[in-house]
Parts: sequence; structure tokens; C-alpha cells
Amino acid sequence: MKAFVLRSFGSADQLELREVDTPVPGPGEVLVRVRATSVQPYDWHTMRGEPYAARLLRGGPGFRRPRLAILGADIAGEVAAVGRDVTLFRPGDAVYAMPKGGGFAEYACVRESELAPKPGNLSFAQAAAVPMAANTALIGLRDQGRVQAGQRVLVNGASGGVGTFAVQLARAFGAQVTGVCGTRNLELVRSLGAHEVVDYTAADLMRTGRRYDLMLDIAGGRSGWAYRRVLTPAGTLVLVGGPPGRWVQPAGHVMAAMMAAPLMSARVALADVVACTENRQNLATLSGLIEDGRVSPVIDRSFPFAELPAAVRYQEQGHASGKVVVES
Ligand SMILES: NC(=O)c1ccc[n+]([C@@H]2O[C@H](COP(=O)([O-])OP(=O)(O)OC[C@H]3O[C@@H](n4cnc5c(N)ncnc54)[C@H](OP(=O)(O)O)[C@@H]3O)[C@@H](O)[C@H]2O)c1
Repeated sequence: MKAFVLRSFGSADQLELREVDTPVPGPGEVLVRVRATSVQPYDWHTMRGEPYAARLLRGGPGFRRPRLAILGADIAGEVAAVGRDVTLFRPGDAVYAMPKGGGFAEYACVRESELAPKPGNLSFAQAAAVPMAANTALIGLRDQGRVQAGQRVLVNGASGGVGTFAVQLARAFGAQVTGVCGTRNLELVRSLGAHEVVDYTAADLMRTGRRYDLMLDIAGGRSGWAYRRVLTPAGTLVLVGGPPGRWVQPAGHVMAAMMAAPLMSARVALADVVACTENRQNLATLSGLIEDGRVSPVIDRSFPFAELPAAVRYQEQGHASGKVVVES
């Protein structure tokens, strides 16, 4: 099969299109013909081996060499073959998943327990936009944020991959949603259901005088300690992301906020999609919301498979409005 193989840590120039062996599904595994994948910060952090501090972690990008040869955290496609003991899927089924790697290829092997049927009303490209970004927003709002109907929810970084899902999910959970984004995305974020929008280039979020029950911090423009000023005393700050950096960011932003938590009246929690063990159940929940028409992926740009490195370079600029997808 054809795959983009990561030669060594570095830029998207290190992604080389090669002919490699097609994986063979083992017991409990499913071989998926990848029809679309999506690109997100997780991919280029892993590609660069950044932040460097993450190289010390078990399950990180690797120390001297990439742990993963083939990146690509999200896939949508058709079941090509099933391994022994697989009972839920058969060849030809349309599926999607968050394998956390392996998506930048023609075929990927996924554990049956990680795979879900593709929402019937989405194309493969749309479905590939969903898994990691929407799952992160779901974990952040529902599990860590314990969002309740009627609460005032602030989504900081509302126009990117995670944010466009977070605005729609918060709205679907019955919250009063305020989205923070740049000028060119104000209309987009409103159209996703935000009751209010704040332009981060024109207004200081800390000086609006508004307080929120729950803040999902995706962009991380200010410190967690500073955010106490926009939270109600019993509010919750859920940390998702932060500014990229070479040594410790965005993890440094998240860790600093966790360290400040004991000094804050607000509850501080972390959304960590990589550690999530409920991916299949969460994809089923998301499929329900998508098929009901309450959530819909926003695609900024789609690239053909042969131009996958260009898709990564585009996503790395940090200004995607929604998701960047790659179609085979
Ligand atoms: N914790 C987890 O499990 C997890 C999972 C997924 C992602 N993440 C992290 O979450 C972050 C966002 O991921 P993503 O996939 O949504 O990225 P993305 O798609 O690249 O999001 C970029 C968006 O952020 C907006 N933005 C940039 N600076 C902003 C600011 N100061 N205030 C408000 N919006 C701002 C940009 O708008 P403009 O063009 O207007 O600047 C752009 O629309 C990353 O740090 C990523 O690593 C964490």
C-alpha cells in the first residue's frame, strides 16, 4: 500500500510517500481502507517530536526517533478485512475511528473496540473530521466540565477543529454559549449556535465583565490563573490546549493552570483525549448527535492524498476554520 512515512522528527518534508506492506489484521482487529483522514495539532506535534519534554513520556512521540512511522490520528473508510474474533463488523461496512496513528496511509488496522459505524449522513471526508476533535470537545464539556442545561459556557478558541465542535455540543447540551474567535470567524461561530461571540483581536476577554459557569480553554491565550476573573466562584475551567512551543508548550500552559488550581475557587480539570478509553462509546454518542442534525463538522479545506504534506503545512499555521481533511 501507499503511505506517508515519517523519516525522522522534523517538518512535513520528512513525510515521504512510500510503498509499504499492507497491515494484516490480528485477532480483534479490523483492516480499514482509508478513504479520508484529518490533520490536527496532534499530528504535527508528533511529527516534530515537540514539545521536547513529551519525548520523555511513555506513549510520547519517541525519544530520538519517531515512535510512529505513520501518523494520522483520525480515519474514515470501509472495512477491507477482519481478524479472528471480530463480530461487529464485516467487509464493506463504512466506519470511522480515532486510531491516534496510521491514518496517513491507504489502509489502517484498528481494534474492533475502537471502531464505530460512520454516521449515515456524512461523507467519508466529513466523518474523518470528527473523531479526535469532537471527542475532545465532548470529553471537555460533558465529562470534565459536567455541563448543565442553562449554564453559561465560554469556548475560548471557538473557530478551530475542537472549537467548532465544542460550540455545537455546548449548544446541544442546552448551554448559553459564548465563543471566542478572530474577526473573520465571527459569523461562522454564530452560525454554529453561539449566542454571543467575542473577537479576541478587538476585545479583552478579561474585561467584558461577564462571568461563566464553565470555560473550555482551547486556545490558551492567557494563564489559567488569569481566567479565574471570567469564572463564577463555583465555576469550572477545563483545559484543552494552548500556544505551541518547542520545549514544553502547550503542555506547560496546562500544567501551570493545574498548579494554580488549589489557589482558585473554580474547579480546574483537564480534557485528555489521548488517555480516553471510551472512544467507541463517544463516537456512538457523536454519531447520534450528527444524525439528529445537532452537530455537523466544519471543513476548512480538503486536500488529495498525494498532497498530504501540504495539508499538514496548512494546519500547522494555526488558523484553520474548522478541520483540514485529506481524501484518498
Ligand atoms: N487535550 C486534548 O486532548 C487535546 C485534543 C485535541 C487538541 N488539543 C489542543 O487544542 C488546541 C486546539 O486544537 P485544534 O485542533 O482546535 O486546533 P486548530 O484547528 O488549529 O485551531 C486553530 C484555531 O484557533 C484559533 N485561535 C488562535 N489563537 C486564538 C486565541 N488567542 N483566541 C481564540 N482563538 C484563537 C484560530 O483562529 P484565528 O485564525 O482567528 O487565529 C483557529 O481558528 C491545540 O493546542 C491542540 O494541541 C488538545
